[in-house]
Amino acid sequence: MARGLLGIEDLDRREIEEILARAKDFQPLQNQSNKRLDLIRGRMIVNLFFEASTRTRTSFEIAAKRLGADAVSITASGSSLQKGESLVDTLNTLAAMKPDAIVMRHSASGAPHFLARYLPIPIINAGDGTHEHPTQALLDALTILDHRKTLEGLRVAIIGDIVHSRVARSNIYLLSKFGADVVLCGPAPLLPAEMAKLAPGVSLTYDMQEAIQGAHVIMMLRVQLERQNESPFPASDYYPFYGLRREHLALARPDVLVMHPGPINRGREIASDVADSKQSVILNQVENGIAVRMAVLERIMR
Ligand code: NCD
Repeated sequence: MARGLLGIEDLDRREIEEILARAKDFQPLQNQSNKRLDLIRGRMIVNLFFEASTRTRTSFEIAAKRLGADAVSITASGSSLQKGESLVDTLNTLAAMKPDAIVMRHSASGAPHFLARYLPIPIINAGDGTHEHPTQALLDALTILDHRKTLEGLRVAIIGDIVHSRVARSNIYLLSKFGADVVLCGPAPLLPAEMAKLAPGVSLTYDMQEAIQGAHVIMMLRVQLERQNESPFPASDYYPFYGLRREHLALARPDVLVMHPGPINRGREIASDVADSKQSVILNQVENGIAVRMAVLERIMR
């Protein structure tokens, strides 16, 4: 299997630290007029997106271009393609284009792992079903580390639709490897008790106040209606119980960071004024996505 990036679970601390350190080198580029480095000039990266994406796809594309590579995006969102035979057909088409790496998002958990077994090309997972979204966890870690010296000992509350969230899973793996205390919180149908067993240092509560108490970081998640066959609770009940509001912030540490991978649904999982508050680092996350993806692409192409 060509070495790509399929998940955080497979990485060790040293590998994660190396990626984050390299991403830090790339951060200042954002504010320069010439943002381009030609570190992997002439390489071709295919972005293969079977699911909707604004941030992730754009940021992989920008990252590739800043490194001097060519990036081509193929979107198949809204198509009825599914895992299996249809993927094999797509694979052969793609392989004929001789890309140097494929960045893939797919609604089926394990789809990029399947691709990686099939093609001798590095595959980067840009989100597979409810499984992992490794570059999101890396950019989240980078954003936290822009504000805190270490992840060790931080209390991180991850709140919302945990069971359907690949962002939650990748973050749980990463934060746990670095000794953070992760508290998962959400309504019972979206937070099965087994989730606490995913990694050491993970606990679970159904009470939002308890989750936020003393938190250094609050990470909010979107309710992933597209991954639910039927809504497990009435939408009107969600916000009063699990929507992050101004009054919650007083329970956390005064310097708490409010995070969200986006897209945010204002008034559904997060109050508008909280999303725009000084504690919110939501746009810093987006910005760091480019630096992190540059670090990942460079590492894989080397
Ligand atoms: C997330 C995703 O697609 O997993 N978005 C993202 O990549 N920033 C989260 C979501 O869709 O809610």
